Amino acid sequence: MSNGPVRVSAEDMALNKAFLKMMSEGKVERFIKRHSLQARLTHGITAMSCIWLCLSGLFVFVPALTQAAGPDAVLFMRMSHRVIGVVFVAVPLVSGLLAPKGVAHVFKNLFTKWDSDDKKWMKLFFPYLFMAKWIHMPDQHEVKSGQRFADGMLWFAGALMGVTGILLVVGSSWADFGMAAHGAILLLHDIGFFLIAIFAMAHMFLGSGIFQPYRGLAKLMFGNGMVSESDALYHWGHWAREEIALGENVVEKRR
Ligand code: HEM
Ligand code: HEM
Repeated sequence: MSNGPVRVSAEDMALNKAFLKMMSEGKVERFIKRHSLQARLTHGITAMSCIWLCLSGLFVFVPALTQAAGPDAVLFMRMSHRVIGVVFVAVPLVSGLLAPKGVAHVFKNLFTKWDSDDKKWMKLFFPYLFMAKWIHMPDQHEVKSGQRFADGMLWFAGALMGVTGILLVVGSSWADFGMAAHGAILLLHDIGFFLIAIFAMAHMFLGSGIFQPYRGLAKLMFGNGMVSESDALYHWGHWAREEIALGENVVEKRR
């Protein structure tokens, strides 16, 4: 069957009509692919390791906890801290080496210059936390301005923990850096601990969807990595419109 200059078979024509009918009846939902399987696995393993490192680190850091737990539990915590520490460093490194373009993309987003919408978003963020129903947030690019800052701090603190942690392992098992250097490395490890604890808590509060407007977004990292068109437009308006126009990462699903 021919329809103007474009030849469409009767079968395709019927499928197109059925699709348009489903769209108009709201039976088809559109999603945008946001995170690859590799990114989700890397995030999941690193995030879980990070939580375990915070907990096990506390058993060394807080004397009252060390005493209450007893020597066997403390030894287990210290050993697990070293093993999981290696996972925390190795998994993102290997993942980054396997996908250097992905790493470049993440860092390009983190260092994108803030435009007027980005500045407005940051100014409105704290009132928005308490009055989300009444505040319309400005459109955002792929990563929101505040999110860029918070993710950047997680990357920075994560790298600091990785480097200082490995130095602590090397210093206690294979080399002697001396008391002063060991003290300085431990201090940096403690500073990183506080940074990561603060930013990871804020990140987990938003990422897990405890805050109502973010409900369901955990799926982006702990699910199929896709965001519904409506959520994408609400959270990252500029990015969503670009992706919809490009269409490459848009997936249509029947309800
Ligand atoms: C999110 C990442 C991490 C957090 C939150 C964390 C937290 C902590 C804390 C709170 C301490 C106690 C510091 C003190 O006593 O002043 C500690 C000690 C230590 N950390 Fe980490 N750490 C992390 C990553 C790592 C990594 C990646 C490694 C190495 C692979 C590592 C190896 C060590 C070692 C060797 C110690 C000394 C503890 C001991 O003597 O058993 N840490 N960490
Ligand atoms: C259970 C707790 C966590 C949840 C629910 C969670 C959730 C999420 C979600 C939904 C995203 C995607 C955001 C987006 O698409 O814009 C994300 C990204 C990210 N998360 Fe988490 N997260 C958790 C723990 C952590 C921890 C502990 C860390 C620290 C190492 C971390 C580091 C990151 C980073 C660096 C990104 C950005 C990744 C990228 O730019 O591709 N997350 N997280």
